[in-house]
Amino acid sequence: MRAFGRRYLVPFHPKRVPHHFTDVLIIGGGLAGLRAALAIDPKLQTLVITKLALQQSNSQYAQGGIAGVMDPEDNFANHVADTIRAGGDLCDEAIVELVVREAPRRIQELIGWGARFDLESGSLALGREGGHSHDRIVHALGDATGREVMRAVIEKTAGLRNVDNWSDTFTLDLLTHEGVVRGALVWNLKHGKTLVWAKQTILCTGGAGQLYRETTNPDVATGDGHAMAYRAGAELRDMEFMQFHPTVLYIAGSSRNLITEAMRGEGAYLVDRAGKRFMFEYDERGELAPRDVVSQSIVLQMEKTRHPNVYLDLSHLDAERVRKRFPGIAACCAEFGIDITRDRIPVRPGAHYMMGGVTVDDHGRTTLPGLWAAGEVTSSGLHGANRLASNSLLEGLVFGAHAGEGASAAALQIDDDFRVPLIENAPQEQAADLLDIVDIRNSLKSLMWHSVGVRRELAGLSDAEETIGRWCGYVLNRQLTTSAGWELQNMLTIARLMVDAALRRQESRGTHLRLDFPELDNAHWRKHIVFQREG
Ligand code: SIN
Repeated sequence: MRAFGRRYLVPFHPKRVPHHFTDVLIIGGGLAGLRAALAIDPKLQTLVITKLALQQSNSQYAQGGIAGVMDPEDNFANHVADTIRAGGDLCDEAIVELVVREAPRRIQELIGWGARFDLESGSLALGREGGHSHDRIVHALGDATGREVMRAVIEKTAGLRNVDNWSDTFTLDLLTHEGVVRGALVWNLKHGKTLVWAKQTILCTGGAGQLYRETTNPDVATGDGHAMAYRAGAELRDMEFMQFHPTVLYIAGSSRNLITEAMRGEGAYLVDRAGKRFMFEYDERGELAPRDVVSQSIVLQMEKTRHPNVYLDLSHLDAERVRKRFPGIAACCAEFGIDITRDRIPVRPGAHYMMGGVTVDDHGRTTLPGLWAAGEVTSSGLHGANRLASNSLLEGLVFGAHAGEGASAAALQIDDDFRVPLIENAPQEQAADLLDIVDIRNSLKSLMWHSVGVRRELAGLSDAEETIGRWCGYVLNRQLTTSAGWELQNMLTIARLMVDAALRRQESRGTHLRLDFPELDNAHWRKHIVFQREG
């Protein structure tokens, strides 16, 4: 694909903006970012930059838990096999093996830092989710694992004297000089635009679910890290693979809350409007098939029954256990008059997790010198074409640690008086600003949902390509001045790559279901689609 959009979103001149110096810059403060911060040598000054408060990340909202072999009845080979099977033949087996083997140590590390996971008879309570052959999901506060894990790592990092956090700070772009990443251009209300120079930079900006009208992701998940890495020239891959979580609360007026897969792990049924349990018609694993299968089956069943949603039914389970295991969901549903122990919960799929991202190796090293990355912004090879449930916090922990260790070692090799290159981005002729940013954002989310959603085909994808290309034409070259505008530019950049990749992949694999190419085609497509901006 030809390069599109400008290299930097906004103009800047080194003589007219403040400069800040740090040893290691971490962009993003979810689990991967904070785990990276915890791996940096205490001699190195580390700055964590977050778009909003530290608590506003996808990690914070994770419900299910962290997958890991913690039970003698289970073993690494099972977890590896489940991950690869769910991943639609596109996982990197060596990476899967590495992550799975590290899982128990990373979970124990969290416990050592004060994370309180749920216990049963004094041992870790292990849940089951779709695609897992054994109970191996550690969880906390019933259905609020992310909240508890983030509490523990935020407290742990707060105690580190070498780690500072700038919250409410928008990272506009990575600074590159002669192909090397040298920090980032950021903006906040207090200082305006600032050049943050760093010996090493780690990208941990999370996902891009906000590109879709229906999503479990918080407002911050607009693919900023994917877009800035693309503009800087890093390699991105697997952009066609967006995971749709099967069960997102669907009630007019409610936010699209995730209804954890752990409910199905506890025995909840998926039923249609007539009360019929339908999953076994699609897959022998029933409700516990991997997410791609369940989401695609739900959409078919919604079509068959001409109904906008299906339902989760827990009425046959022990009511007291259900309330104890899922207190957050029980409270949320109760606000809409639904008693989850008795009433059916209306659900349908929504965009949940971006498998595609910045290519990293096993150390979290990207293709750009000076840039490391971890978590949802990356494509590490762990998830393939469809992530196995509860492998994402795990990936954040493992790759956060690796990227932190790698960046730390590299920063220690660089002298303190490293020269700051003279980078500037000249202002452009500015057209009169008539853009309704909210309108384009909403239109984009709708278009992505309808044309690049659970089911795709040539006509819809071509239409999306043309429309997004037109929007890019008049949005990407503008010098916008608000975070809403920069987010829109990032979302359009990423949407364009996602549509391009979805059009190219003429087969169905994992979360990428092409109605016009319904078969898996290993002979031609057992490979990655890779993007790298020219120049
Ligand atoms: C869930 O609780 O269903 C989400 C967990 C995950 O995305 O792995």
